[in-house]
Parts: sequence; C-alpha cells; structure tokens
Amino acid sequence: MARVLVTRRLPEGGLDPLSGHELVGPLSDDRALTHQDLLRSAREVDAIVCLLTDRIDAEVLEAGRGRLRVVANVAVGTDNIDVDAARALGIAVCNTPGVLDETTADLAFALILSAARLTSTGEADLRAGRWRGWGINQYLGRDIHGATLGLVGYGRIARAVARRAQGFDMTVLHHARRDTASAGFVAALDDLLPRVDILSLHVPGGPATRHLIDARRLGLMKPSAVLVNTARGPVVDEAALASALHEGRLFAAGLDVYENEPEVHARLLDAPRCVLLPHMGSASIATRSRMARIASDAVRGVLAGESVSNLV
Ligand code: GLV
Repeated sequence: MARVLVTRRLPEGGLDPLSGHELVGPLSDDRALTHQDLLRSAREVDAIVCLLTDRIDAEVLEAGRGRLRVVANVAVGTDNIDVDAARALGIAVCNTPGVLDETTADLAFALILSAARLTSTGEADLRAGRWRGWGINQYLGRDIHGATLGLVGYGRIARAVARRAQGFDMTVLHHARRDTASAGFVAALDDLLPRVDILSLHVPGGPATRHLIDARRLGLMKPSAVLVNTARGPVVDEAALASALHEGRLFAAGLDVYENEPEVHARLLDAPRCVLLPHMGSASIATRSRMARIASDAVRGVLAGESVSNLV
C-alpha cells in the first residue's frame, strides 16, 4: 500500500482507482494547500495527485527525492509542474490528455459566440435595468457564420473547435510550429493574423508561448476581429489586449484564462466587449470526473510498475 497525497477534494468517484492505497491531504475540508504544505507532504508520500493551481516546482520535487515516484496533474496542461526537474529526479509526471478536448472546445465556441455577439454585455444591461426595450442599433455584434476562424496551435482541442466551425460555415485556417500538412495551414503566425475574423488560441503554456500574442501581433489583427483564449493566460499580453479593446483596435475578446490567476488585469475588467470566464474550460460534470479518474489511474499504474500512456 502506497501513500498518496491528493491536494484537493476531487469529483465523485475520482479516486476510485486508488482504493487500497492510503490517501492523505485536505480530502474532507477541501482547502488549498500552501507551498509549505506541499513541501512538507512531498517528503512523506509515494505519489501526488494535484491540480493546475498547485505549484509543483523543483523544491517540492526535491523534497520528494528518494520516495516520491509519480505526480499526476488533473489537467492536460503541466505548466505548474517543473517537468525537467521531475525527469532529473526520476519522478514520473502524468496528465489527462484527450478526455477534455470536446468539453473545452465547447467552451471555446461559447466564448466565440458570446464575445462576437455581445451576449454578456446584453445580459449585464438587462439585469442592471439598463435595457429600455428593443432598438435597431443595439448590441450590434459580428456574425460567426461565414466568418474566418484562425486557430493558433492545431492539437486535439483546436481540431475539435475546427469541427464545430464547419457547422457554422466558417473558413478555418490554422497556424502551428510544424507544418500540419492539413488544409488551411498558414506557416507564419504574422500572416494568419490579418486574415481572420476570430482568433482562438490552443497552444500550451510555458516560456515558449509567453506573450505570443503581444501588442505588435494584436496590431496585425483586423479592428473588427475577436480574440478567444481558452489555453493559458500568459500566451496573451493582457495589458496590450486591454489597451487594444479600450482603444477600439480590436472588436471583442473572450477569455477563460489569465496571466496571474485568479487575478484579472484591472483594465480587462472594465474593457468594452470583453467576456471573462473563471477558467472553466473543462468544467463539465462528466469530464471533470473522468479527468480525476484518469490521473488517479495513472498513479495506480506507475505505482504498480505498469507502463502508462499519459506520461508527460
Ligand atoms: C485546464 O486548463 C487543463 O489544462 O486541463
């Protein structure tokens, strides 16, 4: 029987694969562990099941040296984990790829629709009593159907968004670092940007993609365009995006992720036509349960000496 730290309470059934192991952590009161808590616990466990809000840095991994064998993130992104340090220490890192693609693509599409059609602005006005009746010049958004959608990154989630776009008769272009050999590939991001009505981001976080969409690149987009980010906050320079929205150089934005979560840049909070969601891309009941089970099962597998498919 191994000892497994579970950093937060997980959805119903999420820990079933680990039955028979000793589970420790804030399982009943569901409070977030501090970095100090993580450091302390890492010394005393064989495995960690964690969330993207837990910073599993070199210090935490080092604390686990000798005993800790596997860290499983209940997320597809692993930018909260120092994967290089884990590799050097021989600690396996697992994630939950695949399971959340369709759910996250649904939310990306929700943001595309709500940002372009100003549904949040309309609802906020209605709830605040500011709507005085139908008006021909009110809430004029941009059409989604027939628009050109640009995808940055062309992994599973981007492709799931592309499939949805077909139903809206959109033209879909995409940019990725390597030639995808698929229709709609644009080799240079700078060439993609001026061509799209909606840009949706689907690249991983980390140093290689930090501020990929910066002031210069926002300047390459049409002023009528809409930017949607369901990937990772730091991919977009939030200050530059806020300025572009305030100054009318970009029509709208839909964001689910932020540079310094849970903080949201003050100028985004009062930016016009900006839909802001609290990092909920994979938040469906079914998907979150499956993610927890997949992460737990990866831990079970590594501890049992099996080869697991979702190693990072
Ligand atoms: C969510 O953001 C994830 O990486 O799973």
